Formats: sequence, C-alpha cells, structure tokens
Amino acid sequence: MAAADGVASRTVASIMSQPVVTAAPGETIAEAAGRMRELRVGSVVVVDGGGLAIGILTERDLVKIAAAGATTGDDRVETWMTPDPDSVAPDETVDSAFDSLSERGYRHIPVVDDGKLVGIVSMRDLMRIAQLQPAASLAHEVPRGLEGVVVAETSIGHVRGLEGFYHYRQYDAVELAEKRTLEDVWYLLVEGELPTLAQRARFLEEVAPLREVPEDVKALLPRVARLNPQAPPLDMLRTTYSLMATSLGFPPSMDVPADTLRSQALRTCAVVPTLLTALYRLQRGLEPVDPRPDLPYAANYLQMVFGEERPADQVRAVEQYLISTIDHGFNASTFTARVITSTGADLGSAVVGAIGALSGPLHGGAPSRALAMLDEIGTPERAEPWLRDAVARGERLMGFGHRVYKTDDPRSVMLRGVAERLGGPKMELAREIETTAVRVLAELKPGRKLYTNVEFYAAIVMDACGLPREMFTPTFASSRVIGWTSHVLEQAADNRLIRPSARYVGPPPPQPVPAA
Ligand code: ACO
Repeated sequence: MAAADGVASRTVASIMSQPVVTAAPGETIAEAAGRMRELRVGSVVVVDGGGLAIGILTERDLVKIAAAGATTGDDRVETWMTPDPDSVAPDETVDSAFDSLSERGYRHIPVVDDGKLVGIVSMRDLMRIAQLQPAASLAHEVPRGLEGVVVAETSIGHVRGLEGFYHYRQYDAVELAEKRTLEDVWYLLVEGELPTLAQRARFLEEVAPLREVPEDVKALLPRVARLNPQAPPLDMLRTTYSLMATSLGFPPSMDVPADTLRSQALRTCAVVPTLLTALYRLQRGLEPVDPRPDLPYAANYLQMVFGEERPADQVRAVEQYLISTIDHGFNASTFTARVITSTGADLGSAVVGAIGALSGPLHGGAPSRALAMLDEIGTPERAEPWLRDAVARGERLMGFGHRVYKTDDPRSVMLRGVAERLGGPKMELAREIETTAVRVLAELKPGRKLYTNVEFYAAIVMDACGLPREMFTPTFASSRVIGWTSHVLEQAADNRLIRPSARYVGPPPPQPVPAA
C-alpha cells in the first residue's frame, strides 16, 4: 500500500494549479467567460480589491446564465457567482480535499492560505494522481446513456442540438454538402483544411487506386456472400473488412506513426464501398463491378451498385447525403471507434466495432424501417390513425427523435429539399407523415421535442435514387467510415484509455459459493 500512502500524504499545495484565473465582481459575464475560454479553465475565482476570494463562477454557471437568457454583456459576475465558496488550505491532504470535492459536488475549490488565494484544485488535478486511488472513491454519477456528458475534446466537428446546427471543423456541414464534393470534405476531416485545386487533384490520385480490394480478400468474397442469403450487407462488410485488416496486417495504433495510420484510414474509407457493393451483388448472384478510378466517390459507388452510371441528379443527391452523414459528434459508432482506439488497438478493430454499433436500429439501422413504415401507412389519409395507434402502443416511429437535436435535425431539413428536387411517388406521403407524426408526438409525448431525424428523408432520397433498402444503412456506413477514421487519428494522436465505471446492483457479495 505504499502507493496509496504516498497519495494520502500528498498535500493540496503539491497538486494545485497556479496562478489562479480570477475575475473582479464588477466585470461582465462576457468578459469573465471570454477569459475562461481563452485560458481553457472551467472556473474563475472572484476576488475583491484586497485579494480575498469572495466567490466562484464556473462553466456550469455559464450554462445556467445562457439558459436564463441573461445578457452576458451587461450582467455582472457578482450577480451570478456562488458567493463565499468553500476553500481548502494548501497543507491539507489530497484525500481530505478530494472528500470535499466528491461529497459536495464541487468541481473546483479555491486554495486559501491565511485569507489569501494561492491556488485552485479541480477534479482534473485530483484525477491526475487518481490512478493511485481505488476507483470506487472517484465514482460520480452520470446520466443514463451518458446523455450530455462531455468525454473528450475534438476539433473534427460538433453538434449544437438546441440550435439545430452541426459543423465539420469550422464549416457548417449543410453548407459543405451544398457547395463541395465528398472528396473535399473527406480531405477537410483528415487534413484539417479544405483542399486547394492542386491538393484536391493529388488527393484524388492518392485515393482512387485504394478502392481495389486486395486479391486474397477478393477471392473470399463469394464465400462470405454465400454464408447466409439473408445476411445484411453490413454484417458481410464487418466480416470482410476484418479479413482485409488481417490481410493488410494493421499493427496496434499505439505502435504506428501518424502517417501510417493516415494511410490505413484512407485505404479503409476507399475500399469500404467496393466491399459493400461487391457483397451485395454476389449475394444476388451478380458479378461484382470493379471500381472506376476516373469517377468521383458517389458516381463510382452508384455504378458499383447498379453496374451502370446513374443520372447526374441522382449522383449529386447521394453525394449530398453522404457528405451530410460523414460525422456527427460523439454518436454511438464514433464513440465505439474511439474507445477501441483508446486501448491502442489497430484501426481495423476500431472500424469493425463501429460497423457493429452503426447496424443497430436506434442508430444507423433506421432508414429502411422508416420506409417500411411509409409502405404500411400507404396513403396520406391513413397517416393520422396509424401514427396515433403506434405511439399509443409505445412503439417508436423510425426516423423521428434524436438524442441531441431537440428541434429540426438540419440534415433532415437539407435532405427534405433534396428529396423535393428529385420528386418521386413517395414525396407527398412523406410530407404528410412528417407533419402528422410531429403533431402526434407533441401531443402524446409532450415535452420530448421529437422531430424528423436524418434517417427519414435519407430513406426517401435513397429510394428515389433507386437504391435498394438493404443498401440504405451500408450507404450510410460508406460515408460515416470517413468520420470514424478521422476520430481514430485524433484519438491516437492524444490518447488516454477510455475506461469508465459502473455501479454494481446485483446480490450483495461475497456470498458463499455453493458446493458443486
Ligand atoms: N417515436 C416515439 N417516441 C419516441 C421516439 C420515437 N421515434 N423517440 C423518442 N421517443 C420517446 C421515448 O419513448 C421516450 O418517451 P418516455 O419519456 O415516455 O419514455 C422519450 O421520447 C425519450 O426517448 P429516449 O429513448 O430516452 O431518447 P434517446 O435520446 O435515448 O433516443 C433515439 C434517441 C434512439 C434516436 C430515439 O429517438 C429513437 O428511438 N428514435 C427512433 C429510431 C431512429 O430514428 N433512429 C435513428 C437516429 S439518427 C442516427 O442515429 C443517425
């Protein structure tokens, strides 16, 4: 127990942060918040003219201020700070400071010596030495499903659920889908900036040959396709991509330099559409169609599905869908990819895990079910009773609701426009179902703020482009793999093992083990 004794005897002074970021009580909230952002701290200690700590203003307060709709340019720090904050002395032990933090729910405690502010200890400071503490003493509860919990920092993109806005790097993702090609956005995610014309040309040259499936894996595809005639293409992708990662021999991400990991990421993203379309065709007794290096991503994808080039408006519609689904914050499959990468495992394992997470109906598996709902409803007049019954029975309407969006999903708004542009027989019914479902959900599930998510109009767009239902989620995977692999690169570049805890709720242990 030498390590634990060492922790117990460490004092707050040895781990506190200095200098403390402070604010004056008369400053505006905007000024204090700006300093917190700039210096990347989670709180400011409010000090009076004599250097005494008289309050604390934290990130949580800023959230409350925003929720209250206060004017941050006018409101003063003293109005919103927590006055007379608890403090600890610098010679107090880490153990007792930790107790005050965990028991009282504080995230930051000012360190005060003889009335003067000398430092600040935060949960992060304590976590730095926490590997020496038993995990149970660090436990703090988070909401079920990790809703709203920030688990990492990323510069790839973000979703602002209340505003109905999401972005890739610093650009509005919908605007990118309207103005750019998929390859441009892929480049943006991997390289951090949009390509110049010359960079774009080089990137296209780099990725086009990577679409080919290695010969040894190609030879196995017919056998995988015959394993089970009902197997969804995504299951077959999971299997064959895993074979490919084995064949190419991706080493643990911890052991490879960043440029090698980047090459593996590009190889993966380029080959996924080829694998998917080949498997889909083989399962139906059709010959796979080779990738065409002269065609851009979406056009090539569609010709590999159909065996012929598709009209330009359909190619562009699918490309816009693909761009709009490349990345979306810490969704379940992206999080899965990051957790696997955090163990130092290879990029192939991260992608296989992410494919599995995406396949679930609560995540990527919804669009074909949304279309099945449209079929069952059949005509606009049947929408109201059908939807009302389904929600009353406790069923979930596929293509509605979202963990983060509590307003219109911007992807669904964009795809509605794309679907309208394409036209098609299902559009009128889709509009009717959308309007009715949102109204019925507001009435029967008040306060849950349920609107159409990306999957609803994605289904309509893909259907209008002639894509078979079995290929809806695989098409989603063809773009999301770009997001997953970008996150793998980011996680690997600045890694710490992601390893949370759970609360045990089973029969109290230890119980005597019954004799055999
Ligand atoms: N239809 C009916 N009720 C719904 C729906 C829905 N589509 N979505 C949520 N609700 C209700 C729930 O029944 C629950 O009601 P309750 O409070 O009476 O229990 C409440 O709204 C909150 O639901 P949660 O499951 O807690 O919400 P969560 O954030 O966990 O789920 C999810 C989000 C999974 C997307 C959910 O809205 C859903 O199941 N939608 C249908 C499936 C779907 O469209 N998935 C695709 C998502 S988009 C994507 O992943 C790319």
